[in-house]
Amino acid sequence: MVDPLPERAHRNLPVVACRELGRGYAVVRFAADPPLPARAGQFAMLRSPSWGSAPLLPRPMSLLESGREPAVLVKVVGEGTARLAAARPGEPWSWLAPLGRPWSPLPGGARPVLVAGGVGVAPLLFLARELAGAARPEAPLPLAVYGGRSAQDLPLAAELGEVAELTVATEDGSRGVAGRVTVALERLLAAERGHALQLYTCGPQPMMAAVAALAAAAGVPCEASLEAPMACGYGVCLGCAVPRSEPAGSYLYACVDGPCVDARSVDWRAGPRGARP
Ligand SMILES: Cc1cc2nc3c(=O)[nH]c(=O)nc-3n(C[C@H](O)[C@H](O)[C@H](O)COP(=O)(O)OP(=O)(O)OC[C@H]3O[C@@H](n4cnc5c(N)ncnc54)[C@H](O)[C@@H]3O)c2cc1C
Ligand code: FES
Repeated sequence: MVDPLPERAHRNLPVVACRELGRGYAVVRFAADPPLPARAGQFAMLRSPSWGSAPLLPRPMSLLESGREPAVLVKVVGEGTARLAAARPGEPWSWLAPLGRPWSPLPGGARPVLVAGGVGVAPLLFLARELAGAARPEAPLPLAVYGGRSAQDLPLAAELGEVAELTVATEDGSRGVAGRVTVALERLLAAERGHALQLYTCGPQPMMAAVAALAAAAGVPCEASLEAPMACGYGVCLGCAVPRSEPAGSYLYACVDGPCVDARSVDWRAGPRGARP
């Protein structure tokens, strides 16, 4: 039986450290006492009390780690993420967490395949570590495919490589397979044909749409972590609607129905509504 999801709560947590990773990426770590309970795939709404009235809304961030030192991986794309990536030790941040549906448990007998792009690596690294903690010693590591524009666009690849059998792909060919992450995934799916797999994917919307299509063609179940602009994070503002595959004209709400959903439930043709960087 799966444990019930931990209750969300508002808390003020001080920053412990902010580690810059280059190219606008940073890991920001906080102190939580009592520890923050959360499962891989869940997220937090973060805002600094020092912001005043602008930016007004908190920013959704997937959890990279939970517990005594919850952490997020941030990519600077605008004002909120720039402030988070520049956070100083001791600075208090307001957290609403944990939120959303985590990744589903791995079906018995299936090998996990994690497909990441950009900051989408955060909830997948959390998942890989969770799986490593729960696995029998003789169980094979999860498979992982991680893509970026170039070798500098693969934050936390080393950490992912410690808990998964990792293939990287870069569009400029500077590291690993030359081409998009889907090139590497196609090869992996061909090599693993006949084996039970479970895909988990997080990254830019067009990447996840392509991964969902490859998974469907190969008959492999796939979960995706949805991206959508979010104002509340818990089902009140209805700002995070994502078109469902069926019935036509219906919507999923990324914050409460997701972010982790069966990829078949999404109408991927609808296109990005604000892409996760
Ligand atoms: C469930 C979830 C988990 C996320 N996890 C992470 C994470 O782990 N690390 C990370 O760096 N980012 C993550 N994001 C994206 C992050 O929330 C946005 O990049 C952030 O809100 C942008 O805020 P800003 O003030 O810096 O930029 P803004 O000035 O608000 O916008 C700059 C650009 O980012 C786009 N954008 C704005 N808000 C969002 C949003 N909520 N979702 C997608 N695109 C947006 C806009 O279209 C614009 O092009 C996640 C988003 C969701 C929905
Ligand atoms: S973010 Fe408000 S309903 Fe989803």
